[in-house]
Amino acid sequence: MNLHGRSLRITLQLGVAILGLALLPASAQSWMNTSLSPDERAALVLKEMTLDEKITLLHGTGMKGLSPMSPLAGGSNGGAGYVVGIPRLGIPAIQMSDAAYGVRSSGENGRYSTALPADLAGAASWDPDAAYEYGALIARELRAQGYNMTLGGGMNLTREPRNGRTFEYMGEDPILAGKMVGQVMRGEQAEHVMGDIKHYALNDQESGRNAVNVNIDKRSMRESDLLAFEIGVRESNPAAVMCSYNRVNGDFACENKYLLTDVLKKDWNFKGFIVSDWQATHSAAKASAAGLDHEEPGEIFYGDTMKKAVESGKVPMAELDDHVRRILRSMIASGVVDDPPQKSVVDVMGGLEIAQKIEEQSIVLLKNEGAQLPLDASKVASIAVIGAHSDVGMISGGGSAQVDPPGGNAIMPPGQGRTFWQAHIWFPTSPLRAIRAQAPHAKVQYDPGTDPAAAAAVAKNADVAILFAYQWESEGMDLDNLSLPEHQDDLIAKVAAANPHTVVVLETGTAVTMPWADQVSGIVEAWYGGSRGAQALARVLFGEVNPSAKLPMTFPKSEADLPHLKIVKPPRESTTGGEPDAWKKIAAGLPPFQTTYDEGLKVGYKWYDAEHKQVLFPFGYGLSYTTYSYSDLTVTPGKNVRVSFKVTNTGSRAGAEVAEVYAALPESAGEPPKRLVGWSKVKLNGGESKDVTVEVDPEFLSIFNVEKDAWQLVPGSYTLMVGGSSQSLPLKQSVELK
Ligand code: BGC
Repeated sequence: MNLHGRSLRITLQLGVAILGLALLPASAQSWMNTSLSPDERAALVLKEMTLDEKITLLHGTGMKGLSPMSPLAGGSNGGAGYVVGIPRLGIPAIQMSDAAYGVRSSGENGRYSTALPADLAGAASWDPDAAYEYGALIARELRAQGYNMTLGGGMNLTREPRNGRTFEYMGEDPILAGKMVGQVMRGEQAEHVMGDIKHYALNDQESGRNAVNVNIDKRSMRESDLLAFEIGVRESNPAAVMCSYNRVNGDFACENKYLLTDVLKKDWNFKGFIVSDWQATHSAAKASAAGLDHEEPGEIFYGDTMKKAVESGKVPMAELDDHVRRILRSMIASGVVDDPPQKSVVDVMGGLEIAQKIEEQSIVLLKNEGAQLPLDASKVASIAVIGAHSDVGMISGGGSAQVDPPGGNAIMPPGQGRTFWQAHIWFPTSPLRAIRAQAPHAKVQYDPGTDPAAAAAVAKNADVAILFAYQWESEGMDLDNLSLPEHQDDLIAKVAAANPHTVVVLETGTAVTMPWADQVSGIVEAWYGGSRGAQALARVLFGEVNPSAKLPMTFPKSEADLPHLKIVKPPRESTTGGEPDAWKKIAAGLPPFQTTYDEGLKVGYKWYDAEHKQVLFPFGYGLSYTTYSYSDLTVTPGKNVRVSFKVTNTGSRAGAEVAEVYAALPESAGEPPKRLVGWSKVKLNGGESKDVTVEVDPEFLSIFNVEKDAWQLVPGSYTLMVGGSSQSLPLKQSVELK
């Protein structure tokens, strides 16, 4: 770091800025002409820029503990990333904030943001419109706080359900994850916020994420984890893609030419810029040549080091210009140049309403023996509410996704509501209160569940026991197993033994094992439910809302059924324990350790299908308070394969069914038994039927041919299957495709 060089650069820049401003008002500058395309406008700005100005756009301004702080960081809005703007050219600063399920760090800045249900919950809705609304809400709140770029958009596939960030992602299927995250980003960018999808690629575990080298064959990665990104890019044209910490087949993701240039920029024609994850840049010349456009959070490599590399010819000017042009183009295309955010008051009530509505669509009913649910408030005289702080709140997911709860952490005294890295944060949305509101005439008793015998005694005296169980997760850690922590399995078994009408409500960010599943009458997966989780849940429990969500990931019977018995952890020397100057070690690149995804393209249900393993609850599964039937399948080959069928609500209650379409490829394709190729969420009144058509993109029926380096439809017989879960597919028809 050359501080002298940097202050000289800053002084020069300011001088040029003042001079430039005096010469030309921003509106008269040719690139402010909105009738030109973003590419044309970016090219015009680029021509005016000095080398120092170009370098300024290529990096952030520091973050304590992760990189040295720049004297220019003063203009930061308090988010994870801040890039200095170029006022003389009318180019605003980039203010980035994490925003996975809401805007991060609001409390720290004395602000407010809505906590939506976790991203995984959003995926469980299988509702593209809900995903769009999810994104639009986040974007409005980002803008109200003065941010113009989101760092949300997590879409790593759930290849490893113990990954501590599973709640931030959208499940195990590339088409579901790609389409849903694409919709979230479309919603954000429509509000003039720069979108971002992350972490590219194969960052499927947190343990040793700065060092791990992921070994995987090309076909498998293109058809699984990378396919999700391919769809996300195609659907939303995000301003940015964030490359990940890990290595992939030898090279760090952020200096991996195959991932960044060959696939993302060339093959997928990605027009935006690639931003490194926070301290995932490890070089200037190598990373630049591989395609990395922007370093965060500081300028260890993309500041003066990059400038020298350009001056000495190690990095060609044309390459540098491409990085800059991409950033400018993204800023213009997403509207942040023409329509910069104005700080304003967040629509608190509107946000809460949307959070509740999305959670109502995302709660999955997993078991409902003897139509235990919905509860009838006029008949139930007594209810025991047990466990997981359900008197005051519901758990949330931690790490950089963490949203600060308005009102503070529900289990801390008022006023102490700031969040800290990896603290367990309980949102103040009280299931007990929401249940009491639904059943005002019932005797509703609470027991904390800390003493299973005492909880069982309370349950025994009630008509129904509603038992809350949780599994907390966060960035920066993985789960050791999929069991509920803190002896909650034992608590559930004891309560279930005391009361045959026990309903378990799960607050988890991934699958959990359920040794007690046969002993309880109801199981409801509420995920991390967000700011209005309790109200949404109570409406489902009492039937004001008919559940319509489906699992975006498989719930296995046990960890023994996963592709890998254990997550490979780093040897001691490759971890950093937050010691001073840890950033230097990480920047230098920690010694690699290996993990091999030899399950390849058998991710999630594809693995269990291929290995003939029974699961607890399959991908795509979820019950309703009504029932549906499927009939009249026709499959019409063509440019897109058209799959038409009828869905009927065979009960009397209105509902919405996620009708899923899967395909089995010809034997010679060498694929797992089936893959999801499309779906439609269909609203149906009691007794109503609707004709549904799902158009299947031919790429979704193809395999990735490594020799040809292209997608290829294998000629032969394809079986299209339709139904309400990956394991309940009553309709089937084969067609020849070539
Ligand atoms: C996370 C990213 C996040 C960034 C900025 C990193 O540690 O992996 O997801 O956007 O920090 O907070």
